[in-house]
Amino acid sequence: MASLARLTGAGLVALATLSSATPTPNNAFRPSHDAARRNAYDIFNAIHSAMRQWGSSLNHNGMSSFVVTIPPGVLLHHGTRQPQGPKGPEWLAFEVEHAELLAHPRPAHTPSLLFDQQPEQQQQQPISSQHQPPKPTTDDSHGYLFSYLTTSPIPLLYLDGTSAGSTDMGTLDTQDILLRLSPNSSIWDEYPRAFDLCDIVTPWGLQGILRMEAGFEVIKCDFAQEMEMVSGKGMRRPEVDGGLESEVDVDGGRKGWMFGLVRAVGQRFGGVGAGGVRVDWGSMVSAWFWEGLDLRGSGGLPRLVGVGGKELRAIRGRVEEVVRERTGGKGTGGNNVGAVDWQGVVDMVVSRYADRLRYMAEGVHDAETMRIELNGALNTHIDYSIQDTETRSEAAIDRCSSFYTLAASPQTLEDGLILTAVETVARDICSTLFEARNLFAEDPAANDTSVARAQQIIQQLMNRLKWTKWKKCPACGLDEVCWAPLWPLGDKESHERPNCRNASMIDKECVSRESNAGPIDGNDGFYH
Ligand SMILES: *[C@@H]1O[C@H](CO)[C@@H](O)[C@H](O)[C@H]1NC(C)=O
Ligand SMILES: *[C@@H]1O[C@H](CO)[C@@H](O)[C@H](O)[C@H]1NC(C)=O
Ligand SMILES: *[C@@H]1O[C@H](CO)[C@@H](O)[C@H](O)[C@H]1NC(C)=O
Repeated sequence: MASLARLTGAGLVALATLSSATPTPNNAFRPSHDAARRNAYDIFNAIHSAMRQWGSSLNHNGMSSFVVTIPPGVLLHHGTRQPQGPKGPEWLAFEVEHAELLAHPRPAHTPSLLFDQQPEQQQQQPISSQHQPPKPTTDDSHGYLFSYLTTSPIPLLYLDGTSAGSTDMGTLDTQDILLRLSPNSSIWDEYPRAFDLCDIVTPWGLQGILRMEAGFEVIKCDFAQEMEMVSGKGMRRPEVDGGLESEVDVDGGRKGWMFGLVRAVGQRFGGVGAGGVRVDWGSMVSAWFWEGLDLRGSGGLPRLVGVGGKELRAIRGRVEEVVRERTGGKGTGGNNVGAVDWQGVVDMVVSRYADRLRYMAEGVHDAETMRIELNGALNTHIDYSIQDTETRSEAAIDRCSSFYTLAASPQTLEDGLILTAVETVARDICSTLFEARNLFAEDPAANDTSVARAQQIIQQLMNRLKWTKWKKCPACGLDEVCWAPLWPLGDKESHERPNCRNASMIDKECVSRESNAGPIDGNDGFYH
């Protein structure tokens, strides 16, 4: 009894300690530098992958939002079965192949760009909101392609990751759980989702949402705002009498279109190009900035399902606050690109270290080469006027850690958090490399055991960094594309090991997904 009482007492003390650290309504739940340090690698990678198809496909569950602007003169596309242009909310694609996929007749249901069929059981249900897709005004067998040029800067909320992917893997978390506070909505409710998001962001001064699936797309709330239809009308597409499965049509086949889409999207692995989107980096709001959130999902990718209502409302409140600051509450303007080009900073770090880390971890097998590599990476940071080796090494690690952020002067709260994250990552790289260097620098007797040890600590560093650059495809043939899953199209093996695929393999993949378009359970995560 006595020991049980003691145990219970200890339990109570532990509970009291825990609850004093738990945010309470009086104790404002704010972003913190501790969280930015703890989640530094994820924040760093979110910035590296933002507006890039590659990293956003691999790390498909985005936890962050950014205010972005599409400048004037950008061409966007809308595919539909209607001969007249939409009013909105509707979808606009950056890639014309993406829009073409929808520019064909199809039954009235979700506009999900990659699926023409909802699961059977969903098809019977009425759409769970007053928001309905437009009724077809014609049953002709054509689709139409509308192209638009932006005429003024268009401010949008960008949700990172594969946020347009209709999956239950977490791709929709920032939309359904964070912004809509509607965790139970069906993944197929694309119209209600679009209408809700427009109801949310329009009063904040934005014109819609920017998302990504197989290609980047905009949910544009009002098509009459700041865009001009090219040629004043939609372009009629060839006649088809089936969905994506139909292989041959009257004039011009659909066969190979999925391959065409994947090939087009593959050109955007590194970004949409032509200055199509300006990201205001200092407007990043991320669940990674908050302390004490349970963001663990299955398979190593984050989820918002475990985050409480109070915390969700705090994050959502900060998103709104930041957006309103940037837009001044107006629907136009929002041309801010932020004080610091954080992606530029992060790119400098990745480009300097990615290949050499991998080379040292995998390709170097002798002490002499390892010594040359480590000195090559670090020598420039060492001040040889400092005699004491420990002081010299500490000064060098400091210099190395802040080398790419010297010019960064944070203006927003979020700039400061990003700086903390980037310097945390840089410090890990620098101190790990110095640790490896110490095995060789002043030790002429360094041998294969030292090489193995250096490789081990550099490999561990790579496991912490989880850079998506290390998952590139091998060089693909001209009749092939690099296939990394573009959820909801994909398979777990390719997510782990992106590979080259030809048209028949892409067709096979996509048609089998389409005819079996149920929710995908779980995912294989990343470096787990
Ligand atoms: C969502 O569904 C779960 C499980 O059915 C339920 O416990 C929860 O209350 C629902 N949440 C909302 C906001 O409706
Ligand atoms: C390397 O050197 C260490 C220490 O001098 C020694 O214990 C070890 O056996 C050596 N390893 C090899 C592979 O020569
Ligand atoms: C596509 O690739 C698969 C697997 O490598 C191969 O079996 C098939 O013959 C290829 N098809 C064409 C048309 O090249």
